[in-house]
Amino acid sequence: MAAGRQPIPAAPLRFITFEGGEGAGKSTQIRSLAESLRATGAGVTITREPGGTPGAEQIRALLVEGAAGRWQAESEALLHFAARAEHLAHVVRPALAAGDWVLCDRFADSTIAYQGYGQGIDLAWLWTLRRHIVGDTEPGLTILLDLPVETGLARAETEQRYERMGLDFHRRLAEGFRAIAAADPERCRTIDAGGDVAGIAAAIRALVTARYAVTL
Ligand SMILES: Nc1ncnc2c1ncn2[C@@H]1O[C@H](COP(=O)(O)OP(=O)(O)O)[C@@H](O)[C@H]1O
Ligand SMILES: [Mg+2]
Repeated sequence: MAAGRQPIPAAPLRFITFEGGEGAGKSTQIRSLAESLRATGAGVTITREPGGTPGAEQIRALLVEGAAGRWQAESEALLHFAARAEHLAHVVRPALAAGDWVLCDRFADSTIAYQGYGQGIDLAWLWTLRRHIVGDTEPGLTILLDLPVETGLARAETEQRYERMGLDFHRRLAEGFRAIAAADPERCRTIDAGGDVAGIAAAIRALVTARYAVTL
């Protein structure tokens, strides 16, 4: 291709996902970043997965309640993607189209980590589903809050289905998140979530400032 004819890289979507284990601080940090973004006058949509629409919240209840072994792992992965398809269609894509920032508490990396690394589902199959369901709506930035598993579980405020899956499961998914982040360093940034809330929030603001043309 002639010099000067290189395609201009698409700007990263203003879609920021927060990933990490239970109690890593995702909800806390999303609230803080939303406040910083809103202070600039920007619109912000805060949402979560699984869930975010009435239908997807119904699917969430199937996933986070009940016995640890209630689903075949394949069924479980498909339920997550079903909820995600609803959430993308009815919340994420419309909010991005309206010019909002979308801050999402967990997204597709959690399915790869939990159902792939945690529950042993074939990673290639999960990535195929991901490409099909997520398409061009991959996050512009994913913040992985990394914390020792025991610390996160001690911080976690609920005792729901995934929290009850045992230490080995949670160690596997922490490894999974690290592997996902290492394989996609442009999209994923890892933050040590063991520090104080304000310091982590400042580190996240710095990441957002570096990735997007905004000053926070
Ligand atoms: N950096 C931090 N240090 C100590 N406690 C924290 C920190 N961040 C969050 N917490 C507390 O830990 C608990 C879980 O945090 P939360 O944001 O709900 O995590 P997550 O959404 O990742 O499960 C909450 O009680 C929260 O106030
Ligand atoms: Mg939370």
